[in-house]
Formats: sequence, C-alpha cells, structure tokens
Amino acid sequence: MTSSPHRLKSSKWFAGQNVPGFVHRSAMRASGFSRMAVDGRPIVGICNSWSEVVNCNMHFRGMADAVRRGVLAAGGFPLEFPTISLGEQLMKPTTMLFRNLMAMDVEESIRAYPFDAVVLLGGCDKTVPAQLMGATSADVPAIVLTGGPASPAVFNGKQLGVGTDLWHYIDEVRAGRMPMAEYDRLESAAGPSQGHCPEMGTASTMATLVEGLGMTLPGAAAVPAMDSRRLQVAEMVGVRAVGLAAEGLRPSQVLTAEAFDNAITLMLAVGGSTNAVVHLLAIAGRAGVELPLDRFHELSSRTPLVVNVRPAGQHLVEQVFHAGGIPAVMKAIEPLLHTEALTVTGKTVADTLPDRAGTDPTVIANLNTPFQPPQGLSVVRGNLAPNGAVIKCSAATADLLVHRGPAVVFDSMADMMRRFDDPDLEVTAESVLVLRSAGPRGAPGMPEWGQLPIPSKLLAQGVTDMVRISDARMSGTAYGTCVLHVSPESAVGGPLALVRDGDVIALDALAGRLDVLVTDDELAKRRAELPVAPAPHHRGYTALYVERVLQADQGCDFDFLVGRSSAPENEPDAVFDGWVGGW
Ligand code: FES
Repeated sequence: MTSSPHRLKSSKWFAGQNVPGFVHRSAMRASGFSRMAVDGRPIVGICNSWSEVVNCNMHFRGMADAVRRGVLAAGGFPLEFPTISLGEQLMKPTTMLFRNLMAMDVEESIRAYPFDAVVLLGGCDKTVPAQLMGATSADVPAIVLTGGPASPAVFNGKQLGVGTDLWHYIDEVRAGRMPMAEYDRLESAAGPSQGHCPEMGTASTMATLVEGLGMTLPGAAAVPAMDSRRLQVAEMVGVRAVGLAAEGLRPSQVLTAEAFDNAITLMLAVGGSTNAVVHLLAIAGRAGVELPLDRFHELSSRTPLVVNVRPAGQHLVEQVFHAGGIPAVMKAIEPLLHTEALTVTGKTVADTLPDRAGTDPTVIANLNTPFQPPQGLSVVRGNLAPNGAVIKCSAATADLLVHRGPAVVFDSMADMMRRFDDPDLEVTAESVLVLRSAGPRGAPGMPEWGQLPIPSKLLAQGVTDMVRISDARMSGTAYGTCVLHVSPESAVGGPLALVRDGDVIALDALAGRLDVLVTDDELAKRRAELPVAPAPHHRGYTALYVERVLQADQGCDFDFLVGRSSAPENEPDAVFDGWVGGW
C-alpha cells in the first residue's frame, strides 16, 4: 500500500471512527469492495467519458480496466465514475454547447467524491478540454489519458483522415465528379476502428497539447487506439495516478504560464486545430493564468511547422507515432520550449525529452528545415474584429492571405443553406463569404460552420478556396482561407452585424488585420438602424449558456467559472463530519 506524506482527501470520508465514517465505509462495502478500499490507500477516480453515442471513445472500458490494473499494482484503489459524453458527430446542435456542462459535471464529481487523484479518460474533441477544465477547477491531482488515433480508413488505395479527406470528397460530389455509388462505398469505409480522428484534427491536437501542458505521461498522445501499447500506457497512467495522490501534485502546479506557452508552441509546430485556441484560453482561465489571445500570434511568429501531418501536411498521427511521437516533436522544437516546466511525472520537460528528434525527417523535421515557415496561425484585428479573430494560415491558400473583395453576406446558417447554391447568387472567386449569427450566443454554441461551402457554380469553374469570415469555429480537420472566432460576435453587436453585400473587406493575415472598408460614420449609422429582434426563448441549460457564456477571445467559458477555486479538502471538516443524509 502506498503511503502518503500528506493527509489524503479520502481520509475525510473513511478514517473517522464516527457515524459518517461508518456510513461511508459501509457504502463502499455494500458495493462489494473489501476493507482494502477504505484502509487508507489512495483512491483514484477514473473519469470515463465512454458511452455508446461516442464512437471515438468506444474502447474506453478496456482502457479503464488497464488503468485499474495499474492503480491496484501501485497500491491504490480505483473507482470508475461516468460523466456526460460528448459525441462530436451525433450530438446536436453542437458539442461545444455542452463542453462547459461536461466541465461542470467533471469538476463537481471530482470535488464531491473521495478521490485522491483522478485519471481523465477522454478522446473525442470536447471531452478532453471539458475534463481538463473541470479537473483544473477541482485542483485534485489529475492525469489525462487520451484514446489514441483511430486506424486510418483506406479508400481507393489511399489512407484517409476522417474529416480532412471527407471535405474534399463532399466537394467532389457537389461538383459532379464523384458518383453516389462511390460515395456510399466511402461512407462504409470511413471509420474502420475506435479511437479519435486520425489526422491532426481537434482531438489529436488536444491529445498533443495535453503532453505539451505536461498533464500526461510523455509519449502517451500518439499511440494508436488499437495498438497494444495504448493499454500499456493506460496501466502506467494508473500507476502514476497513485504516485500523484501520494505526492499531492496538483494541476495548479503544472498548469503554469510556461506550460501554456509550451502547449501553444507545440500546437503551432504540428499545425493543430484552431479549436485548441478556444480550449486553451478556457483552461488557462480556470488555472488563473493570464493568457491573452495575442500570445498565440506572438508565439506563431517564431514557430514553424515541423510536423508533416494532415490537414496542414500529408501524413496521419500514426506516422507521427512511428517517427517518435510527440516527445520527438518536442525535442525538435526544444529551443522554443520552457524546458524547466514541471509535468505530472514529477519531473521537468527537460528531464523527460528523448535524445533525438524523430526517426523520419519526412514526418518530423527540425527548426532549420521546417515544412512551413512561422506564422501558421494569425490573430487578426481591425474594425471587423476589435477583440480579435483567428486564421490558420498553414491550412489556407497562400495567395488569399492578403486579399480584398466584396462581401457576400449570409445572416445565419439557415440563410446560407437557402442561398449559397442559388445560380443567381452574385458571387465570384474574389468575393468574401461572410456568415454571422454563428457565435457562442448567436448560434448558440459556436458550431463548426466556419468552413463555408464554396458555391457550386464556382466549384464547377475549378475554384477550391475563397476568403470566408464568420464568428463560428471550424473543424480541426478542415482547411481553407477561413477567418474564424470573430469577436465580439454579431449577436452581441459585433461589427460583423453591420456588414452589407458589396462592402469591400480587406484581410491581411500576415499583418494581423481584418477590416471592412466602410467609414466609421457609415458604420455608426448602420448600427443605429439595426433591427431589434426579440431575444429567442431558451430554457434550461441553453438559457444559462446564452446568458453567461464569454466570447471566443476569452475561451467561451462561463463567466462564473473563470479563476482559481479552493481545493476541496479546504472545506471545513463539518461538511464531512456532520450528520449524514440518506438515513
Ligand atoms: Fe470524435 Fe473526431 S469525431 S474525434
């Protein structure tokens, strides 16, 4: 049995020789657990986001079993608990609407139960940031275990990423170049295994950033979901969770400003998802770390793309794993990292880096010979985005990064769906497509609508990319010259609400500018003329969300959840030792 140098949180439940202690212990024994569960060894919660509505996380029961083995072997006692699970593809209107709900579920479960440490078992896009947000607020020792990338689909002899290639084939269908029978074959082949999307989409990006933040074991992120080494990692995570419980090393000691710099730098080096910007801002808010949106632009200006993985490159995460995984990537960018940052291993980044930066330079390059120069992501500001917007330059068309063109404005997703394929729509390849009412409050939930479709008549002319601007997000697997997260959003009066068809919009992603070339007087006049629409009625959780969600530049967290919170064992003893309910 592992001994702890400090008083375990679980001892407040189980150590007392009083009525509450009796009730807590007997509740455990009623579950079939022997005295071993309450004899003072560390209790490790396994926070499992498994469910049958999240295909990416379907293998988590086996992973939880492996964690359990590790916990028991190290002298702890494991207790698995469920949370809501957010299935990216099935959940409507968007999982982002429920990220904060899951974060609250995770936080309160960790705080309310006798866990001395937790293993956060997440994979599909929003599950990892939600668990990190909740665990950061609870500030109980925590370690993340992600599900690993799925085995790639093979279609017509080509390995597919789930999203990246799908967007391409959808355009092929719309342009009449792919017959429906072939599209049907693609549908059945697209998801051959459990695990998260196998390219550097949002899930792989978040798994990578967990390593960058120091919140998991080195090398854990890229091990494929179906590789036996993922279960081996899970066992070792269980072992380490017991160590964390004994040492009392908390997320607040790991999630420092330096850790966020490291994660952002890593995100830029792998060409990660723009969604990670919103999630990192939210996690930093929970950790009490000041992280302005412009920090992403600053770090981007010095960080090149050193990993050749889709959507910014050619390979899938599996190839990154075989070339050395995320530790090799971190070794490649070591001069840009704060290597003195502490990780959940109890060691610094420097202590855990490998000797060499990868085994295949066509997959993991180095800072001297990168795949793309710095500035793979830009934060743009101007009279159209006073509080900022982001564009993933590494997945955009280089010639469009500096562009002027007339706006074609869609008032909402419904408006866009009605008109974007209208043959009479006045649009050319030089137009700038604008979508509004797609932000955190306006949609609500800031869906991944930011990769607006290219109108079919332009696709037929061979147009493959256009400048697109919205207050929405974009799938991490997507690509194109898409300005996203415009803040403040149109629904709260952001300037996107004032743009009209034909206004010239000027984008200079390299200089960090986004402007509509309309005078201030004209914009003020339009603002005065804005129709006052009645606020849509929302009930329940959505009503809370719309009322309290912050804008994208602040991470879309709830305003009442930002900032450090008190550790649960700082609750007065009376909370634990008072009389027990239920009898
Ligand atoms: Fe679940 Fe991509 S849809 S990870």
